Formats: sequence, structure tokens, C-alpha cells
Amino acid sequence: MKSISFILNGEPVVVNAYPIERLLDVLRTRFSLTSIKEGCGEGECGACAVFLNGELVTSCLIPIGQVAGQRIDTLESHRYQKIKERLEKAFLVHNASQCGFCTPGMMMAALELARKIENPTRQQIKEAISGNLCRCTGYVRIVEAIFEALNKE
Ligand code: FES
Ligand code: FES
Repeated sequence: MKSISFILNGEPVVVNAYPIERLLDVLRTRFSLTSIKEGCGEGECGACAVFLNGELVTSCLIPIGQVAGQRIDTLESHRYQKIKERLEKAFLVHNASQCGFCTPGMMMAALELARKIENPTRQQIKEAISGNLCRCTGYVRIVEAIFEALNKE
């Protein structure tokens, strides 16, 4: 085991872990950050998305050793509070979350999109969530929810 330090949601943290342990597991089990889900475990479904130094990554593919000295942000971060509230409201209104398993990953993709493009089109939203799988709702309601949340009247 090694002592690994990094910045998590704006706070310095230290964890004792094997460097090969997956970031996904460390964040869920040691920090109780349960917005991060394990879907495929192979980098294909987007359910485990986090920001690593501001870039969207799949935490199931990142060994914790790689995160030493880096910055990790998850959906729990207060940094995204305002846009998160808009997303939550829109997902509720459009009934875009059924089992909800994919929802945090979808929201992370939406946060990434909001940072890059103001008032995105439905096509841009579809492209932004193309790495996220939903097994329940299909994508129409999800796209509508994100469209509403990210487009300012
Ligand atoms: S669990 Fe990481 S991408 Fe599916
Ligand atoms: S709401 Fe169930 S996987 Fe998307």
C-alpha cells in the first residue's frame, strides 16, 4: 500500500491504497462518492465519469496511482451546484431518469458540454452523450432534459 495524495472536489485528501486500485473503487468505497457507478467496467458506458484535471474520464480505467498530485472532481462537487440544480429539475420534469443508474454519468457529460458550448443544439447534446449508455429510458427524454437545462431562455 502507498499513501496517495490528491485534490478531491476542491479539498486535499490522502488515501492508503495499492496504486493499481481503480479510481472508481477508491472514490466509492473510501470517500462514499456514490454518484459514480460501475456499469461496464471497461470504459464503454460512461457511468463512472469524473473530471481529472478538468477532463472527462472514465474512472474504471484509471489506477489511483495515476491520480497522485492531480485534481479530481465528481458530480458531488459544489463547483457545479447551479447547473446541477437545473439538470436535476429538467430530468425530473422530463422523466429522463428511470432506474437513474446512468443519470450521474449523463449529467457529467452535460457539465462538460456546458463548459464548452453555450446553448447547445440537440445534435450537439447527442454527440456529447454518445459515450453514455442508458438501458432504461432511451435517449429522447435525456436529450430534452439536457437541452432544457443548458439552454437559457
Ligand atoms: S463503468 Fe466505467 S465506463 Fe462503464
Ligand atoms: S435510467 Fe436506467 S440506465 Fe438510464
